[in-house]
Amino acid sequence: MKLSLKSSAITPSLTLSIDAKAKQMSSEGIDVVGFGAGEPDFGTPEFILNAAKEAIDKGLTKYTPVSGTLQLKQAICRKFEQDNYLFYESNQIIVSNGAKHSLYNIFQAILNTEDEVLIPSPYWLSYPEMVRMADGIPVFINSKECNDFKPSPEDIAKSITKRTKALIINSPNNPTGSVYNETELRKIAGIAVANNLFVISDEIYEELIYDDATHHSIASFNKDIYDLTITVNGMSKSYAMTGWRIGYVAAKREIIDIMTNIQSHSTSNPNSIAQYAACAALNGTKEEVCKMRSEFGARRDYMVERINKMSLVSCAAPKGAFYVMMNIGQLFGKVINGVKITDSLTFSEVLLNTVNVAVVPGIVFGAEEYVRLSYATSLKNITKGLDRITSFIEQLD
Ligand SMILES: Cc1ncc(COP(=O)(O)O)c(C=O)c1O
Repeated sequence: MKLSLKSSAITPSLTLSIDAKAKQMSSEGIDVVGFGAGEPDFGTPEFILNAAKEAIDKGLTKYTPVSGTLQLKQAICRKFEQDNYLFYESNQIIVSNGAKHSLYNIFQAILNTEDEVLIPSPYWLSYPEMVRMADGIPVFINSKECNDFKPSPEDIAKSITKRTKALIINSPNNPTGSVYNETELRKIAGIAVANNLFVISDEIYEELIYDDATHHSIASFNKDIYDLTITVNGMSKSYAMTGWRIGYVAAKREIIDIMTNIQSHSTSNPNSIAQYAACAALNGTKEEVCKMRSEFGARRDYMVERINKMSLVSCAAPKGAFYVMMNIGQLFGKVINGVKITDSLTFSEVLLNTVNVAVVPGIVFGAEEYVRLSYATSLKNITKGLDRITSFIEQLD
């Protein structure tokens, strides 16, 4: 078979496949604790569900404009104004089938062959693949746990070459939960402007932020960075709407126009009913969002405290999102049931096979000495899973 060489080189999304394996084991009756989930475990708030039912009853089941309904785009503009001090017209917005689709469209719209995209590492695993699918080259900027997993503005500046086209900023970050502060972001904005780089600011976890951390949208600082920034957000994480598939982008009109053309020949508009529901969500109260944030915050505190009490593993307290990066470097070389732990993948496999706990190996995020644990699961499950990890570590030789 002569299949596409480019597409054959794309790696599958391992976070989804580990979650799928854990779900399959559960369906076989095995009591698995899944820390792999990338989605809130809460249901979509009821007023949003009701809006969707209303959309069906009103017969809003036809094609909408490719880039989304005017009502939803206006709600998105209001949200940006109220939450992010960002001012956009509705023709500067495109709604897509989830923020993942938004990002895919962005890279298709801005990259030429071999353009480089700077990606702070650890990174969300889809970024490099999406860059490659658009014939670009992902360039990783490494960071360390002791620096909060954030490359410094100087590290970013050093990575720029003649071919650099864009920089991805994902704050709060998946997988590390780190959040850039305003001073850091302003410096990064200065570097982007000085080098004429697009900044793709993935703000999908903006509502899930803890302690004294605050979210800043890089595009809000001044006109120069506003013009270069492509701001990405979506309904999945803040409103527990992962299955509805609504993400959106705000940027200069020229970029949005190209993205709309791409979308017009691939998926057309996102689901009409989900758009109506998203509009209700953005125009509604944030009561449910606050409840979810406070529940996530309590789970985070518990998980961080428990992990740091275990021997040989540790973690930093993440400031946002719903993931903890557990440092497993000291377990490399240890043996259990005749299997040696040599890296994050062997650790994850042997943990799942031995104590039925699913985690995501850090290698998929460019962080080999770590595994990612999601706390988008009940405190009861978290307790059970951490008990099992504790006993697993105790069994190691
Ligand atoms: C950093 C980041 N960006 C974007 C997305 C995409 O979200 P969705 O396509 O559900 O809107 C995810 C989902 O896991 C994510 O973690």
